[in-house]
Amino acid sequence: MGIRAGMALIDEAAPSVPTRPMEFDDRFDHVPRHFAIDGDIVMSHILAVLSSVFPDGEDYFVRAVERVRDRVTDPALRKDVEGFLGQEEWHGREHRLLNDRLAELGYPSKQIGAYVRWLFKNRERLKNERLHLAFTAALEHYTATLAETLLKLPEARAEVGDEAVRSLLMWHALEEAEHKAVAFDVYRYVGGSERMRIATMWMTHALFVLETGIWTLISLAMDDEARRHPGKVLRSFWRLRNSPFTSKRAVRQLLQYTKHGFHPNDRDTSELIAEWRTTLFGAHGDLKELLAS
Ligand SMILES: [Fe+2]
Ligand SMILES: [Fe+2]
Repeated sequence: MGIRAGMALIDEAAPSVPTRPMEFDDRFDHVPRHFAIDGDIVMSHILAVLSSVFPDGEDYFVRAVERVRDRVTDPALRKDVEGFLGQEEWHGREHRLLNDRLAELGYPSKQIGAYVRWLFKNRERLKNERLHLAFTAALEHYTATLAETLLKLPEARAEVGDEAVRSLLMWHALEEAEHKAVAFDVYRYVGGSERMRIATMWMTHALFVLETGIWTLISLAMDDEARRHPGKVLRSFWRLRNSPFTSKRAVRQLLQYTKHGFHPNDRDTSELIAEWRTTLFGAHGDLKELLAS
């Protein structure tokens, strides 16, 4: 039995966080070096750095939630936890495929992956389940913000440029929006405090901006075309001021998390999710045939 929400048909029995096994296989083989809009150098490097961070970052999220999963006895949350774990594992797997291609093109994807692994393994020496869930929930707010930007704004989707990379990011964005509250709810479920949640986000803001910034600069320094054309790189940096990913709207959304009492579902993205489920996986969905049989 289904209900109508906006233009889309929602199946009440369907899980709110479904795991969709996706196989992009060889679809990244033809991704060009500067795959972002109009061959934009800086945006290509930023997106490459983000993709390189995802698999090992998401492995950390999975470990944080898995540590407490057996204590989640609430049936609805437990179901969402299973969906979350499944979705993140598939994201990591498919981003690794893209990252292999990016490494072939000269991006430091492997080095970034190794750094992220080292960073999180080091952090996990602190045996504090709630702290790792707090970091996970904070970073999930980053992915939720990125996801909402992509799902909502055609100009953000256009920035991605290459179609195969965009398909990967749209699938990922839809699922990040679907599970945006799961790590947060698990954190609360195991008794995580508001104080730790907010303090962890301030640390995450500082570290995320610093680390992605530094890796983007390293990645650009390794790019011979960027070195040969510094004017082009400067123009590309200048373009960033108009990017939907660095807009006031996106920054405001990121900062909402540190308000006392914030919950990820305060931002209602249910219609956006319903619309993109149809666009990507409906009867004539763009990515329907990519679901592994
Ligand atoms: Fe993910
Ligand atoms: Fe996620």
